[in-house]
Amino acid sequence: MRATLNTCLLMMTPLLASCMTVLSTPLPSAAQAPSTPPIEQAVISSPSGNLTLLLETEDGRLTWQADWRGETIIEPSALGLAFRSGRDLVDDFQIVSVAQSTADETWEQPWGERQYVRDYHNKIIAEIEFSDGSPALSLEARVFDDGLGFRYVVPDTGAREITDELTEFRIDPEAKTWWIPAAGWNRYEELYQETPLSAVHRAHSPITMELPDQGPFLSIHEAALVDYAGMWLNQRRPGVLEAELAPWSDGAKVKIDGAFTTPWRTLQVSDKASGLANSDLILNLNEPNALGDVSWAKPSKYVGIWWCMHINECTWGSGEKHGATTERTKAYIDFAAEHGFDGVLVEGWNFGWDGDWFSNGEIFSFTEAYPDFDIEALAAYGAERGVYLIGHHETSGAITNYEEQFADAYALYERLGIPAIKTGYVADGGEITRRDADGKVYKEWHDGQFAVNHHLRALQLAARHKITINAHEPIKDTGLRRTYPNAFSREGARGQEYNAWGEPPNDPAHTTILPFTRMLSGPMDFTPGIFDLNFGKPVEADPRVQTTLAKQLALYVLLHSPIQMAADLPRNYEARPDVFEFIKQVPVDWSESIMLDGYPGAFATMVRKVRNSQAWYLGSVTDEEARTLTVSMSFLGDGAYRATLYQDAGTANWRTRPYDLNIKEQVVTKEDALSIQLAPGGGTAIAFLPLEKATAP
Ligand code: NOJ
Ligand code: CA
Repeated sequence: MRATLNTCLLMMTPLLASCMTVLSTPLPSAAQAPSTPPIEQAVISSPSGNLTLLLETEDGRLTWQADWRGETIIEPSALGLAFRSGRDLVDDFQIVSVAQSTADETWEQPWGERQYVRDYHNKIIAEIEFSDGSPALSLEARVFDDGLGFRYVVPDTGAREITDELTEFRIDPEAKTWWIPAAGWNRYEELYQETPLSAVHRAHSPITMELPDQGPFLSIHEAALVDYAGMWLNQRRPGVLEAELAPWSDGAKVKIDGAFTTPWRTLQVSDKASGLANSDLILNLNEPNALGDVSWAKPSKYVGIWWCMHINECTWGSGEKHGATTERTKAYIDFAAEHGFDGVLVEGWNFGWDGDWFSNGEIFSFTEAYPDFDIEALAAYGAERGVYLIGHHETSGAITNYEEQFADAYALYERLGIPAIKTGYVADGGEITRRDADGKVYKEWHDGQFAVNHHLRALQLAARHKITINAHEPIKDTGLRRTYPNAFSREGARGQEYNAWGEPPNDPAHTTILPFTRMLSGPMDFTPGIFDLNFGKPVEADPRVQTTLAKQLALYVLLHSPIQMAADLPRNYEARPDVFEFIKQVPVDWSESIMLDGYPGAFATMVRKVRNSQAWYLGSVTDEEARTLTVSMSFLGDGAYRATLYQDAGTANWRTRPYDLNIKEQVVTKEDALSIQLAPGGGTAIAFLPLEKATAP
């Protein structure tokens, strides 16, 4: 099915530079004289030449194609945009000029999975006109060794509505695919399905595939989703994924006014699944930091009045079981101070939770506390102990109600020294409440343009108050944390909470799939660290967490987030101080991250180097199957390290003996290889501290 392609031979049309181009300076735009024949085909390869993008016009239609190591992985696929009024950008195209350049720069992340990110790509801007010579659009494409991105840059044609984006991804329908459905009630909180591509109907991105016959692995996503609608991938004919934009309630896809640029449509490619997880493509396609000094956006660890609601020990609403009381919050602050946590999240502190909060988003107040929660006193109590409160804004999807109050709410938090907010948009997909000035209510999608723009407004406003945001039921991550580094974390996948509800719980494979799917988009507030895996019931009782205890620790390293929660109740940590030690020590900010190996749905082994330190951490997880992995220590620096291993005991099994865990120390160097034993549903977490100062950083 995959054709072999010689990119050099294809360069027969009057176009750009060489097929394997590594240019240090931009080529001048090759504007064509009117008599110059249009360019039928433009080819651009990545710096190493392994990935090639072809743009082509045939009968006035524009297509793109991608080749990996000379084999076609994306068959010629449509490009274009259709509008409710005015001229569509669909056909009658001619490419009139192509400008090519190379960029190679390294930029620094204020926080994140690695400190320095190399952005090395070849780029083209293809100017496209209609056959009568009037301007149509530019297509901008960047090709990296780990993937590519392209976007439409459209000149000003006034106020218009996009009714359809034509972008296609034509892929072998036999490709093994890991995906979650889009446009359903449960937003992004689904268990991943593994099927042939042909069985996908409508999927969210990132969507990950392994092509038949030894790959490569692909992932389709988008970068820099700004003032546009989120992209769903709708499979029309087998193997043809079409961009489908989440619509407004009135049917428009995107409302534009003037010139606009679409988000990048991205394709990550790697011979191995681990390569996808090591790619910086999405960040590299975002704009640099727009907020300036963001030293106030500090990675941190937190505990919170949270899990007790999910296991029904306390309530969000007021009454006897109210979770967010002054007394309980003080106890959490004391616990946080004693164990070195930075923040305490308190949910259910504000008016609006009583009754059916899922349906009553319009009555939430974001500034008025319940009488048994003394927010002023608690902020002061925390400050005296070096612990801050983490704010909580559940909107139940009533975005207008939230926007009417968020300026006051952020100002209140800033005054109280609250530097972080968890937001929430619990509402079924397509049920975000937008209220117009005249009071009429409309229902929108979580990933439509209205919600996309709301999330950016919230980030920009929060930044003015030096506040970071962790959004649940969010818009998907498209790398905007590069531009707005207060976009700290988000949910946007099935997190720990499903284990409490048991509908059904996350299966043992779930966290082996996330690193190769959802995590490609950015950090996740998964909330690891449940120690009482059975919620006080016997081991056989359901629902329960379907992992071993050691696997809960491994998730802190595997699933990156600049804020990590120790999600369980303090009493469960107090019962296992030896194991809790790992959560207390594990950092949340890294100078390097390497997915050493893994396969979606089977296992994943991640190592990360601590910022401003020589220390490393490892997190490895498996699915239902026990595995023994031999892991080379070659990632370590020079000298000896003391490794502290938190690992499944030989008897461990998530079903029968989830708590069987050994803690062991050994000295290792980069010449060594460690044999890691993972129990069914198990995991391993390791701290590597340089021996001469073998204390936690
Ligand atoms: C769903 C969120 O994922 C969860 O963390 C939160 O506790 C509830 N909504 C209430 O806001
Ligand atoms: Ca959720």
